Amino acid sequence: MTEGLPMEIPVADLPPRIRIHEVGPRDGLQNEKAVVPTEIKAEFIRRLAGAGLSTIEATSFVHPKWVPQLADAEQLFPMLDGHEWLDDVALPVLVPNARGLDRALALGARRIAVFGSATETFAARNLNRTIAESLAMFEPVVARAREDKIHVRGYLSMCFGDPWEGPVPVHQVVRVAKQLMDLGCDELSLGDTIGVATPGHVLTLLAALNEAGVPTNTIGVHFHDTYGQALANTLAALQHGVTTVDASAGGLGGCPYAKSATGNLATEDLVWMLHGLGIETGVDLGRLTATSVWMAEQLGRPSPSRTVRALSHKE
Ligand code: HMG
Ligand code: MG
Repeated sequence: MTEGLPMEIPVADLPPRIRIHEVGPRDGLQNEKAVVPTEIKAEFIRRLAGAGLSTIEATSFVHPKWVPQLADAEQLFPMLDGHEWLDDVALPVLVPNARGLDRALALGARRIAVFGSATETFAARNLNRTIAESLAMFEPVVARAREDKIHVRGYLSMCFGDPWEGPVPVHQVVRVAKQLMDLGCDELSLGDTIGVATPGHVLTLLAALNEAGVPTNTIGVHFHDTYGQALANTLAALQHGVTTVDASAGGLGGCPYAKSATGNLATEDLVWMLHGLGIETGVDLGRLTATSVWMAEQLGRPSPSRTVRALSHKE
C-alpha cells in the first residue's frame, strides 16, 4: 500500500468508472453561517478542478433573500470564465424558475439543475409552492433549456425521509420523479436530504424507478451523511449500476430549509472507497484533501470528513 492511498482490491460487477458530481461550492457553502468571500469561492472551484473533479456545481440562481450565501452568483460566474483549467470542467448551477434561468443564461451557464421535492412540506418550505406548482414552475425552464441544448439535471429532495412528514412512501417518490423526468430532464438526482436512507431502501427505490421506466443510466445519487449511511448507500447504488455520485469536498453542506440535514457525503471518503475498489474517478486524492484542509482554514473549523482528518493528521 502506498502511503495515503487505499489498497486496491476490486469487487466483481461494479462500474469501472464513476462520475463524481461535486456539490461543495453550492450545497456545501449554501449552508455556511458565514458568507464566504466570492474570491475564495472562485479559488475553491479552481482547486477542485485542479484536483481532477470534472463536474463542479458552482452556485445557485435562486432568490438572494432565500439563500444569501449564494447571492453573489453574478459576481462569481464571470470569475470562472475563460480559464484554461475550466476547459474540461462542467459547472452546473441551480435554477428554480424562469427568472433564475434568465440570470444563468445571461452569464453563459451550460448546465442547470431544477430542484423538486417528493413531499409537499419541503416543496412549500424550499420553493414556496405545492409539488404540482413547482413542477409547473420548472416546465418552461426545462423546455427553454432544452431548446438551447443546455443539460438539465432534476434534483428530487426527501426521497427517503422528510423531517416533517417522516418516511416517504416509495410510490410517492417514483410518481414525482417520473413527472420531473417527463418534463425533459436529462438526469435525475435522488436526494437523501436528511441522510436517513439505508441500503435496502436505496435498492428498493432504484428498482421501483426502473420499473416505472426511469433507466439507471439517468440516475445519480445525492446522499447526506447525517446517520453515517452515505457510503453504504453509495455502494448499494453502485451495485445496482449507478455511475453518477454526488459528494461535497470535505463533507461541507446541508440544506438551509431542512434543519436536520448535515453535510453531504464527503468527496474524499467517497474517493477513498472507490479507489480501494479499483474504480476510476480522475481525482487526485492528495490534492483534493489539501483543498479541503485549505477550505476548512477559510471557514475556521475542521472538516468533518474522516478521510480528510486521517490524511491531514500530523504527529
Ligand atoms: P417566491 O417568494 O415564491 O418568489 O420564491 P416569487 O416567484 O413570488 O417572486 C418574488 C420576487 O422574487 C419577484 O420579485 C421575483 O422577480 C423575485 P419582485 O417582482 O417582487 O420584485 N425572484 C427572483 N429573484 C432572483 N432570482 C430568482 C428569482 N425568483 C423570483 N431566481 C423561489 C420562489 C423559488 C424564488 C424561492 O423559493 C427560492 O429562491 N427558493 C430557493 C431555495 C433554495 O435554494 N434551497 C436550497 C437548494 S435545494 C437543496 O439544497 C436540496 C438539494 O441539495 C438536494 C437534496 O439534498 O435533497 C438540491
Ligand atoms: Mg443536498
